[in-house]
Amino acid sequence: MATGGRNTGWKHQLGALIGLYLQNSTANVSPVQRKVGDIVWGSCADNSTLPGAECGYAIVPLDYFNSTAGVAKIALGRYNATTSPRKGSVFVNPGGPGGTGVSLATGSGSFLQQVIGEEYDIIGFDPRGIGQTEPATRCFPSPEARTAFIANTVLDRGYDVSPNLTDPANRYHLIQTQRDADALYKTQFAICGQTMGDQLRYMGTSTVSRDIDFMTTLLDGKDALINFYGLSYGTVIGQYLANMYAAGLFPERIGRVAIDGVVDADAWANKPAYTWYRTWLSSTEGAYKLFFEDCAKAGPSECALAKSRNDSATDIYNRVEDFVNKLYDEPLPAPNATIPGILTNGRARLFWIGALVVPQNWQSTAQAFAAAMAGDASAVLDAVNEKELVDMERSAVSCNDNKPFAPPKPEDVIDEALFVQQNVTRFGLTITISEPDSGCQFWPVTPPERFLGPWNSTTKNPILIISNTNDPATPISSGEIVHKALGNSSALLVLDAPGHTSLALPSTCIALNARAFFANGTLPVEGTVCQPNSGPFPEAETANITGLAAIGSSKALVSSDDKLLASLRHISSHIFKFGA
Ligand SMILES: *[C@@H]1O[C@H](CO)[C@@H](O)[C@H](O)[C@H]1NC(C)=O
Ligand SMILES: *[C@@H]1O[C@H](CO)[C@@H](O)[C@H](O)[C@H]1NC(C)=O
Ligand SMILES: *[C@@H]1O[C@H](CO)[C@@H](O)[C@H](O)[C@H]1NC(C)=O
Ligand SMILES: *[C@@H]1O[C@H](CO)[C@@H](O)[C@H](O)[C@H]1NC(C)=O
Ligand SMILES: *[C@@H]1O[C@H](CO)[C@@H](O)[C@H](O)[C@H]1NC(C)=O
Ligand SMILES: *[C@@H]1O[C@H](CO)[C@@H](O)[C@H](O)[C@H]1NC(C)=O
Ligand SMILES: *[C@@H]1O[C@H](CO)[C@@H](O)[C@H](O)[C@H]1NC(C)=O
Ligand SMILES: *[C@@H]1O[C@H](CO)[C@@H](O)[C@H](O)[C@H]1NC(C)=O
Ligand SMILES: *[C@@H]1O[C@H](CO)[C@@H](O)[C@H](O)[C@H]1NC(C)=O
Ligand SMILES: *[C@@H]1O[C@H](CO)[C@@H](O)[C@H](O)[C@H]1NC(C)=O
Ligand SMILES: *[C@@H]1O[C@H](CO)[C@@H](O)[C@H](O)[C@H]1NC(C)=O
Repeated sequence: MATGGRNTGWKHQLGALIGLYLQNSTANVSPVQRKVGDIVWGSCADNSTLPGAECGYAIVPLDYFNSTAGVAKIALGRYNATTSPRKGSVFVNPGGPGGTGVSLATGSGSFLQQVIGEEYDIIGFDPRGIGQTEPATRCFPSPEARTAFIANTVLDRGYDVSPNLTDPANRYHLIQTQRDADALYKTQFAICGQTMGDQLRYMGTSTVSRDIDFMTTLLDGKDALINFYGLSYGTVIGQYLANMYAAGLFPERIGRVAIDGVVDADAWANKPAYTWYRTWLSSTEGAYKLFFEDCAKAGPSECALAKSRNDSATDIYNRVEDFVNKLYDEPLPAPNATIPGILTNGRARLFWIGALVVPQNWQSTAQAFAAAMAGDASAVLDAVNEKELVDMERSAVSCNDNKPFAPPKPEDVIDEALFVQQNVTRFGLTITISEPDSGCQFWPVTPPERFLGPWNSTTKNPILIISNTNDPATPISSGEIVHKALGNSSALLVLDAPGHTSLALPSTCIALNARAFFANGTLPVEGTVCQPNSGPFPEAETANITGLAAIGSSKALVSSDDKLLASLRHISSHIFKFGA
């Protein structure tokens, strides 16, 4: 799916969206019958899957509260256990909402087994509304039509924010922009209502959790426990599984559940999106600052934004910020970009928030941005435009999950965002575009079930929570909130690194802890902090571990476990889709 100009190898719209970039794998099986409880396996139509991987589907009730409503067909991918005795299935979810678990299992199953254990079948599924699962989200005639609908609107180019946050003209301009955003949300959701009607109701996480429960019974039997590994939005599914019915079915069925890159499901379900960001973005500035520290340390040979060995992090930061702020007054033409356009202040911020998600690519981040500062914004614009072609999959999940709320005035949305901009991070308005969960006040349907908590259940087995110290999209503060609510039903494992999920900078320490957890339920000792195996910039520069650790940048350790590390890199590149 690569097109010309995608030379930076990463995408901007990542954040909790990491899964969106996984390829689809279609099941090469003929639909024999469609009876609830049917499960069918065959080969995968997509020839990029691993040897031994299988694709298929399960037929489940469309509506668990209405048996006459029909069926849903959940697309599945499987990579069997390779050692015996087989211990059961582990369901995997790569995030989004929008990522396909089928592709994760069929493209990376054997590598995931290095982390989860060879004694487990790795089961990927496309959640409701996503990938090959039916019903699919088809609001627009095609994903291209949706892309055309938002092109060059605020939903595409982001918010331009004046460096003078307190200037009333800035606030006025943002409120006007917000009026556009609200009308665009209203329009696209009206389109969804017209084209999909009631089919839209069945795509929330409560229903997805019931599917996992249902499919665990189909695959492993009525008494089997639910095992699950979820990244990013997948951590929301994990929390629903662990909490749906405080004293009910799922908490009593929790086997091994690990969640990595944590979204606070309580806020996700109970609060309007525009109020999330004080917490959600609490590590974003930290990640941004680390970029400049690591860039200064790497020096000009590895980090194109460093002019000399003498450049301090502050020098580099000041030049970048100065450039981004000047774009507010004077956008930079990019006539040579794949889709020619202008680099605006809003687009520059979208570029950076996307870059912070994947520190493994910080070298190309620096190259692209240095080129823009030298007058050629092609690579930056291409990166920002490299959005996955999608319909309204994400909203179909987040808006079915979100408790209805009174429509906020544009002034309320902007004043909250300005608070975040001034007191939390300069990416306060960027996130609403890079992680599109807003506008749910216009969602046209009500799901059959919407779980809203409580979130403090006692689970049959404790769950493993993994957070990075500087995750720009799913901060450690969210991991701590979930850990605190679940108490002894959870353990928190920390990776001392920037980036989104522990796969952003692979760590064999994290992987070995996860493996012990899946194998034996062993939990890391409270307070365990792992290091990544290498830092964001190339090895030559990060090899001076003592020096780096001493000066407090993101640290690096050298590991002897090459096979495990190679597997982590494979999973990571699958998920972030480097060079694909
Ligand atoms: C996989 O399929 C693609 C497109 O269908 C084709 O171009 C490619 O050659 C195939 N690769 C293999 C290894 O068969
Ligand atoms: C995977 O295991 C199932 C039994 O659980 C078996 O029917 C199937 O053939 C296996 N698939 C492969 C590719 O070996
Ligand atoms: C159940 O679904 C059927 C078919 O869509 C519908 O006609 C009926 O009204 C639904 N029943 C309830 C209680 O929602
Ligand atoms: C910011 O805007 C206000 C109101 O227009 C103005 O008084 C102030 O001088 C500006 N600050 C800077 C640093 O330009
Ligand atoms: C770096 O700093 C040293 C000592 O302050 C100075 O002599 C040298 O010219 C500087 N080099 C550059 C490239 O700025
Ligand atoms: C665009 O490409 C042309 C031809 O290579 C080059 O002359 C020009 O400087 C480029 N413009 C920008 C803004 O990079
Ligand atoms: C930032 O926080 C301070 C202290 O809470 C508050 O007075 C100020 O209004 C906030 N800034 C904005 C733009 O809301
Ligand atoms: C769990 O949370 C609910 C709702 O917030 C609260 O009423 C209840 O007391 C909590 N239970 C425990 C054991 O903390
Ligand atoms: C949690 O576990 C610790 C150590 O086993 C124990 O001291 C504590 O009482 C437990 N807390 C709860 C709420 O069960
Ligand atoms: C699980 O426990 C068994 C028995 O104590 C041990 O041999 C094995 O190494 C453990 N596995 C992991 C991955 O920790
Ligand atoms: C490693 O880094 C430290 C601290 O920056 C520095 O003093 C030392 O000279 C470096 N060692 C090498 C081999 O570059």
